[in-house]
Amino acid sequence: MDKLKIAVLFGGCSEHAVSVKSAIEVANSINTQKYEPIYIGIAKSGAWKMCEKPCANWESGDCREAIISPDRNTHGLIAIQDSECKTVHIDMVFPVLHGKTGEDGSVQGLLELSGIPYVGCDIQSSVICMDKSLAYIVAKSAGIATPEFSILTDTDKVIPNSLEYPVFVKPARSGSSFGVTKVCNANELNAAAETARQYDSKVLIEQAIVGTEVGCAVLGNGSDLFVGEVDQVSLTHGIFRIHQEAAPEKGSENATITVPANLPVQTRGQIQKTAKAIYTALGCKGLARVDMFLQENPGNPGDRRIVLNEVNTLPGFTSYSRYPRMMSATGITLPKLIDRLIESALMR
Ligand SMILES: Nc1ncnc2c1ncn2[C@@H]1O[C@H](COP(=O)(O)OP(=O)(O)O)[C@@H](O)[C@H]1O
Ligand SMILES: [Mg+2]
Repeated sequence: MDKLKIAVLFGGCSEHAVSVKSAIEVANSINTQKYEPIYIGIAKSGAWKMCEKPCANWESGDCREAIISPDRNTHGLIAIQDSECKTVHIDMVFPVLHGKTGEDGSVQGLLELSGIPYVGCDIQSSVICMDKSLAYIVAKSAGIATPEFSILTDTDKVIPNSLEYPVFVKPARSGSSFGVTKVCNANELNAAAETARQYDSKVLIEQAIVGTEVGCAVLGNGSDLFVGEVDQVSLTHGIFRIHQEAAPEKGSENATITVPANLPVQTRGQIQKTAKAIYTALGCKGLARVDMFLQENPGNPGDRRIVLNEVNTLPGFTSYSRYPRMMSATGITLPKLIDRLIESALMR
């Protein structure tokens, strides 16, 4: 059988460096006996270039312009070389992109137009998960606990806050903890809102949840879902912000990630069940990492609420990333995981 031609999209206009690291891991693990990967880097400027392999300085290597055609008859790429256009058929797209325009439904919209199957969430679930307030509203209506929150728009001059302090102020549609501030009193609210507005005109104020941060990797479609081991983020101080650190490969300044989480098996099972319910409620497809809090309950430590934090529809695949580590803890190594993601995209 012919090898499946998989276009791996990486880089992008936001979270570029993390995406390149993710794509390097995918390139190292994709089974080239079964698949023929074609690497398309998107520069920070938005330029699309076919290149040999993802690496930190991929743009200085041998690159040529190549874009995915929205025309279904092309079912692939339009590559430009020596001022000539050539079409290249592809069987599938694996978007290894994070954040704005990669994970928010933009690329998914292009891929829907193109008619080419692709790995991961569709337009609707990408859009909903990217906006934390929309994700909370949808999850809440499905009976999932979420932090109490309110929304600030860019026209709100006086910042109302009916929530008890501390609160978290954050951009509604961003990632990697950029623009997120813990606010302990009303005097700090304005500055925190300004910080968040640097990343998004829509800002959330939400109740701080006291507890443990936990995550669960989910894979699959419909009712055929597979979950990884639950992980746990232990913080010594501050907030989880590993992607802003200088050398996250060597560990974090304030966070330790433990897989499987150091929690009773029954609690981990409940977290996995909740993650599946969140994934289903938000209409996710292919994969997502569901981040939650296991809220402290001093009155009854055996009965702790599981509260949604956020859903990442294209989670990192770097060497230190949580999604592949949670999967690998169940025996699904990265080559197997890539196989399963491609299979689940073909089955949609
Ligand atoms: N409501 C909250 N209660 C407690 N900690 C929070 C809350 N919201 C955010 N945080 C902290 O800030 C980090 C980043 O916030 P998050 O909502 O996950 O944004 P991002 O999409 O940038 O990762 C979280 O991992 C957590 O450490
Ligand atoms: Mg987060």
